[in-house]
Amino acid sequence: MSLKVGVPAETYPEESRVALTPEVAGTLSRNGQRVLVQAGAGIRAGFRDAAYAERGVEIVPDRTGVFERSDVVLQVRTHGANPENEEDLALIRPGQILIGMSDSLDGTQAVSRLAQTGATLFAMELMPRITRAQSMDVLSSMATVAGYKGVLLAASALPRMFPLLMTAAGTVTPARVLVVGAGVAGLQAIATAKRLGAVVLSYDIRPTVKEQVESLGAQFVELGLETADAEDAGGYATAQKDDFYRRQQAAMADVVADCDVVITTAAVPGKAAPVLITEQMVVGMSAGSVIVDLAAERGGNCACTKPGDTVVVGDVRVLGPVDLPASVPFHASQMYSHNIGQFVDHLVRDGEVSADAGDDEIVRETLVARDGRVVHPDVLEALGEPVETTQPLQPSSTSST
Ligand code: NAI
Repeated sequence: MSLKVGVPAETYPEESRVALTPEVAGTLSRNGQRVLVQAGAGIRAGFRDAAYAERGVEIVPDRTGVFERSDVVLQVRTHGANPENEEDLALIRPGQILIGMSDSLDGTQAVSRLAQTGATLFAMELMPRITRAQSMDVLSSMATVAGYKGVLLAASALPRMFPLLMTAAGTVTPARVLVVGAGVAGLQAIATAKRLGAVVLSYDIRPTVKEQVESLGAQFVELGLETADAEDAGGYATAQKDDFYRRQQAAMADVVADCDVVITTAAVPGKAAPVLITEQMVVGMSAGSVIVDLAAERGGNCACTKPGDTVVVGDVRVLGPVDLPASVPFHASQMYSHNIGQFVDHLVRDGEVSADAGDDEIVRETLVARDGRVVHPDVLEALGEPVETTQPLQPSSTSST
């Protein structure tokens, strides 16, 4: 008997992505899964019902039907990342497998309520950034989209053009763009700003990214700060003391003042975003300058950032966009769908979701709830509950109507 994989429409306001594109749905079907998609689920991302149907997907008219008939439910935002939608909790049944982004470390209460339904929850945002899981890494996919779109927002907010133009009406000098933090979002921001013709500078606390920055044609800014302990064994930035950030602010002030656009993406895993641009530095920029703070949803790298809003400080605009991937829903869905499809392939063996959490880092790191309880140590810690030893996940029942 084949596993039924269902995709309900997203209900979070402004969410326009869909968890499975027709192409990946077709691949799952060819791999033996039966795919059910709620009517209209893909339309805001540019995928019509007919495109799914052509690939053997069954279009289900209503949300209830998708939940009732699916062994595995795939979403962009599961309950934790869509806590207003309490109605879904009544549709979920014990043993049902839910896979999606669940904001599990911040939306802990919602995740806890979801756990009480008895469903098994895998949180895509907890995918470990290891080589084996690269094809399932939704945070990298979404950061790529955010880095690209962040530059477009800056370009449209800036009262100048990005490229150098030599015209009969005179020379247009190129915009100067500083990208702070050259991780996934930052490198994509550098590449996009370069393609638009800007002069691009970038700084990252990890000296090892200098080569990557330069390979994209940007100039790596040397701030003369001691950063020997800036990278952990996994290649991530480490948190620094307040004093370091103060010295970084002082060292960056002149560079910031000399740029028309600053895109900030600096993040330290598990921590609030470090504040790297003070109000004084914002005021020191030229009239009309723009800051796009991609770290807004984690507090922001700029002291003036208001998440989800634009703040005007003097004559400088500070944009704090959140949910940028949802503003490019076609390709964000394509990438997300590829990631989640790979994860489903990883979990399914002989028509069942069968994974031994004990042996498999990918399962262990993403498994948040099962058997009526939250089981992920980090989520339990965030909930203030005792951390228990995880037991291997039993194969799920595949029986459904
Ligand atoms: P990442 O971990 O790949 O990159 C973050 C970079 O910041 C790393 O290279 C790190 O070394 C650097 N960094 C840390 N501290 C620094 C400091 N003091 N100075 C300079 N660089 C520093 O993270 P990723 O995936 O690129 O995400 C970047 C940010 O974009 C995150 O805050 C993430 O939440 C955000 N994001 C925002 C979206 C939106 O819609 N606004 C969507 C997706 C991601």
